[in-house]
Formats: sequence, structure tokens, C-alpha cells
Amino acid sequence: MSVELLSSRINALEESATLGMTKKARELAAQGHKVISLSVGEPDFKTPKHICDAAKDAIDAGFHGYSPVAGYPDLRKAIADKLKRDNNLEWGPENIVVSTGAKHALANAISVLVNPGEEVIIFAPYWVSYSEMVKLAEGTSVIVEGAFDNNFKVTPEQFEAAITPKTKLVMFASPNNPTGSVYTEEELRAIAAIVEKHPNIFVLADEIYEYINFTAGGHFSIGSIPAIKDRVITVNGVAKGHAMTGWRIGFTASAKWIAEGLEKLQGQVTSGTCSIAQKAATAAFNGPLDEAYKMKEAYDRRRHLVVGLLREIPGFKVNMPDGAFYAFPDISYYFGKTDGKTTINNSDDFCMWLLAEAFVATVAGSGFGAPNCMRISTAAADEQLAEACERIKTAVAKLK
Ligand SMILES: Cc1ncc(COP(=O)(O)O)c(C=O)c1O
Repeated sequence: MSVELLSSRINALEESATLGMTKKARELAAQGHKVISLSVGEPDFKTPKHICDAAKDAIDAGFHGYSPVAGYPDLRKAIADKLKRDNNLEWGPENIVVSTGAKHALANAISVLVNPGEEVIIFAPYWVSYSEMVKLAEGTSVIVEGAFDNNFKVTPEQFEAAITPKTKLVMFASPNNPTGSVYTEEELRAIAAIVEKHPNIFVLADEIYEYINFTAGGHFSIGSIPAIKDRVITVNGVAKGHAMTGWRIGFTASAKWIAEGLEKLQGQVTSGTCSIAQKAATAAFNGPLDEAYKMKEAYDRRRHLVVGLLREIPGFKVNMPDGAFYAFPDISYYFGKTDGKTTINNSDDFCMWLLAEAFVATVAGSGFGAPNCMRISTAAADEQLAEACERIKTAVAKLK
């Protein structure tokens, strides 16, 4: 008896590329190697104190029971208020469903909307889990690639050309993981104008990196455009902006009939998410954003540091990310080169070789639909980032 007995649905899934690399890095570190791990997409800051205090209070006050499936009313209200304040999005608490992280919220939204055989347009490079979530829903991913020279962003023309009668959903993250690209209001309005012409198409807008945006124009939510508002499912959470990855709180904001579908699904599969974490998230959404801004400043400093150092490496092509905490260099110059022992054929080879040679853990672009690139998380101390770039520079000098 073995894996072939698992369902074909599960056997068709890829393992998460980011988690796979993190596991290998941990193994090397356990053997005593000084690994610099830049593979995981996780803030290196602690959750702000006022949020932790709210969780402690919740424990003491006895919030220990099952929570309502869609979330506590005060949390749903805090989220509705946040959407109004930050995103110009007018939704009431009844439009919000709280889930176990933005990842869960995205997977739920896809399950609730996509029928087998329907197409989901995914703007690439994309976060590793999108295409796998579509597979689980038995939908078909249609990958549309943003060009390096357009800061990895998909143009409205490219989007329109990918639409077919089977298109059900278009999904993307802005700010983006892995590229850090940010779609401007103008670009999002152009995308929305196309969606408006196709009344059966929905938009899944992943805004989890909202607070880590370095552009002068700031964040814009496509769901705030009235003509398509009822067809946009906005996903966000507390993981990145509030440094709360382990608390597992995300949410969807959508039309009520979609929210009801999401609640029905969650009611049968997971029930409401952790009661204590919900109280912490309520404090995050209602509270001050000073800590979030401080973290953003640190990420801003680090992107300049890392991109500056990576641009000194011969052959690397590096865009300046406008948001999130990743650098995403094109490393294809090294494909076909060798250090005499290992030949680098693709980004997977490059990242594995780099880990073994320089003990720097990164993630290959292949899992993100960008096989020429590698992702480097900048959510680490400045000294670590500088040392990692130095190690990469020294290592690649051996490739001929
Ligand atoms: C683009 C994107 N969306 C969603 C998530 C998931 O967020 P959460 O930790 O809230 O599930 C991540 C996490 O890496 C992400 O990068």
C-alpha cells in the first residue's frame, strides 16, 4: 500500500516549493552549517504587543469555545471598518468571512466559484499555491505572463486575449509575491474595464501585502470600482502587515451570496477559526498601524540594500520591487554553466547548488511560473542579507 492509493486529486498536487526549500535548509542547519535562510515568506518581526495583549485577555476572559463559522461579529465589523478606512470598500460585516489565513480564504473562494473545466486566469509570476488550488477545484489554470520589462505585470491586452467563454475567474496578488510588483490604480481600472465587459467573470484580488507598498500612489483595491464590485472577492489578512503569520487569520470580502457560499463550505469543513486569534486580529484591525509602518520602513531599506548588491553580480538582472519583501532576480545567464562538478540547467538546479555551495536558501522561480528567476526573501536582518549577497557573488564566480 502506498501513495498511488491516495486520491488522484492529491497525487496531482505539487509540493509547495517554498516549504520544500525551507525543509532542506533546516536539515543542513541541523548538520551544523551556517545556513542563511531567505526562502520563507515570513516577517522577521514579532507580533506587536497590543495585539498579543488582546489574545492574552481573550484567554483570561474565557473565549475558549467554538467561534461562529464566519467569525465573531466584532471581528467582522473591525474588518468592514478597515476596508472602508484603507480601501474605499463599502462592505458590511455580513459580507466578511474570516478564515484560517488568506491561503484558506483563497482556496475557499476558488472552491465556491469554480466548476470542473472552468478556466481561471492567473497573472504570472504568481504565488505557488494558486495553480494548485485551481487543480483541487478541478478548474483549469490559464497562466498569463507579465514581462520582466513591464516589471512582471500583465497588460490589459494580455488579459483580454486570455479570456474564453470558459473563463470564470481572474486572480492575482498586488503587491505581488514573488515579484514585489504593484498594479497601479490606472492599471487596475483598465483590467476592471475588461471585466465589466464580461459579466460572468469574477476577480479574486489577493491584497495580503497591502501594507508593504512603497509606491507614491499607495495601495488601490480593484473591488472599490463600483461597476465590478459585486464580482470582486477581496482577500486579505493579518499575516504579513501585522507580522502574524502563525495566528492564521485571513478573510474574504464579497457579495453576500458568495459570502454565504463560503460560510456553508467552512461550516462543513473547518468551522470558525481559532477564537483567541480572532480576538488578536480584532485588535490588529482596530488598532494603530505604527508598528506596521515601522516594518514597512525596514523592508524598504532592505530592498534597496539587496537589489543594490544583487545588481553587482555579473549576469543577474534585477528589478526594484515596489512592494512585499522579495527580490526576484533573473539568473538565466548561469543556465548551461558549470563549476566542474554540477551543471546548472535551470532555476531549480541553481537554487539547490547555491544552498549546497554557499548555504543560502532561496526559492527557484519555476514554482512561481517564472523559470528564469529565483526568489530571495528580504525579511531578514540587514547584516544577514548583505552576507547572503556576498556569498552568492562568491559562489557564482565559480560557474563557467
Ligand atoms: C500572495 C500570498 N497570498 C496569500 C498568502 C497566505 O497568507 P496567510 O499566511 O494569511 O495564509 C501568502 C503567504 O505567503 C502570499 O504570499
